Formats: sequence, structure tokens, C-alpha cells
Amino acid sequence: MTEQPKRVRVHHLLAAKQRGERLTMLTAYDAVTARIFDEAGVDMLLVGDSIGNTMHGHATTLPVTVEDMIPAARAVAGAARRAFVVVDLPFGSYEASAQQALETGVRIMKTTGADAVKLEGGRRSAAQIRALTEAGIPVVGHLGYTPQSENLLGGPRVQGRGDNEAERISEDAMAVAEAGAVAVVLEMVPAPVAARVTEIVAIPTIGIGAGAECDGQVLVWVDMAGMGDWSPRFAKRFGEVGAALRAAAVAYVDEVRGGTFPDDEHSFLA
Ligand code: KIV
Repeated sequence: MTEQPKRVRVHHLLAAKQRGERLTMLTAYDAVTARIFDEAGVDMLLVGDSIGNTMHGHATTLPVTVEDMIPAARAVAGAARRAFVVVDLPFGSYEASAQQALETGVRIMKTTGADAVKLEGGRRSAAQIRALTEAGIPVVGHLGYTPQSENLLGGPRVQGRGDNEAERISEDAMAVAEAGAVAVVLEMVPAPVAARVTEIVAIPTIGIGAGAECDGQVLVWVDMAGMGDWSPRFAKRFGEVGAALRAAAVAYVDEVRGGTFPDDEHSFLA
């Protein structure tokens, strides 16, 4: 977004799409990174259920609970000054019914100070999106590769290849938009399919592994910053922060062991 509102609100997302301005989104799971990304001008912070894989040591997002999400969301929303904060509804907290989604959404909005929630699924989640929206809770949809369904999808695989599958994603995107979602994430979708969805829906599309024609982009911050040895093919490493952090820790260990830290500068001498 090139225009810099004091605080990014729902209408700024739509206005950015209408003006052809790209939206930026990164995940954040704590106050330290949320503050850094907010100061860097990131428009939207996603307290993703990827907290399960990235921070909690799980192999998937499936074990993540609402109780895991709430403190992380509170920390991120508390630290963000400008960014629009979106919180994932974790697996098992909304699929059963619109009522279940509403109860989870209300709990998250009441206790965290976030701006919106995100949930996975197209037509199958339309009733949930409508119920949340009617209760005044902005919803971001999530289509394409949906990690909470990874067992059904056979792991992280590109979705929407072939005419029928591409059509299915377009129809799901229209259902999500019609149900009232304020934006939709498209994950691991061929670029032409994401471009088509971006053209036919009025709400912003936020791509991750979905090409350059989406209205915005999102990355998991540990991939974006190069925290681990490996990042997915679609996630460009914009830094090597993991290596820098390791080097700082090694220097610290060396200086403590060598007796050069703390020196006089870092001691109270009287
Ligand atoms: O949880 C998450 O980080 C996400 C992104 C992959 C979009 O949903």
C-alpha cells in the first residue's frame, strides 16, 4: 500500500485493490517481531496457525489450539501500531458449524485486540464466514493449499492445476467473497489461476506461492528472513537472519568463556 493510513482498516484493503496498490502481509507470533514488521511498514500481520510448525515444534498446524493462538495474538495486536492484525482460527475450532465459528471468533476478538480472523475453505466455510461477518467480525478466507487439510490433500502440493480444479478455486473464491470476507489468501496456486481469481473477485487476493498478479503477498516470516536452513521454493529469503543470530550467539559464548565479556563498559564499577 503506497498510501500510509495511520492504522490500516478494512476499507483501506479494498481501496488498495481498487487503486492497484500491492498489499504486504507477514506472519508474526510475538511482540518483538510484530513491532519490527509494523515499523517496516508491513500492512497486515498474520498470527498464523503456522505458529505450530515454526514456533511450537509440531510437524503440522493440526495440533494448534485456540489457547495457543490467544496469547500470540494479544502480543502481536498489542505491539502493532499501524498494521491490520489477522488471527487464524485453528483446526477444530470452526468447521463444525457457523455457531462454533462465531463462538471462537468472538472469543478471539474479545481477548486479543485483533482486527480480523482467518479460516480455511471455500464453499464449505461460507456459512461460517457469513455468521462471523454478520456479527461484525472481519474474515479473511484461505484457498488453494490449505494446511489444515494437508492429510486430505496429500501434503503441501500445488492446487488448482487443470481446468476443473481451477474452476473449483474460482467458485470457492466467489463464495468466500459473497459470504462477506474482506480478503482471501491463495496458497500454492498456479499464477494464471490466481490472476483469474484476482480479476473476478472484488476483495483483495493475498498470494503465497500464487504468482505476481495477486493484490498482495504474504510470507511466513521465518522463511522470508532465512531463519532455517530451508525455505519453500516460493518463499524468497530476503535475509539470512538465522545465520546472523547464530554468529551473535557463538560470539557471546566465546567471549563469556574467554573472560572478555563483561568488560568494564558493560559493568557497574562502583
Ligand atoms: O498460518 C499461516 O502462516 C498461513 C499462511 C501460510 C498464509 O496461513
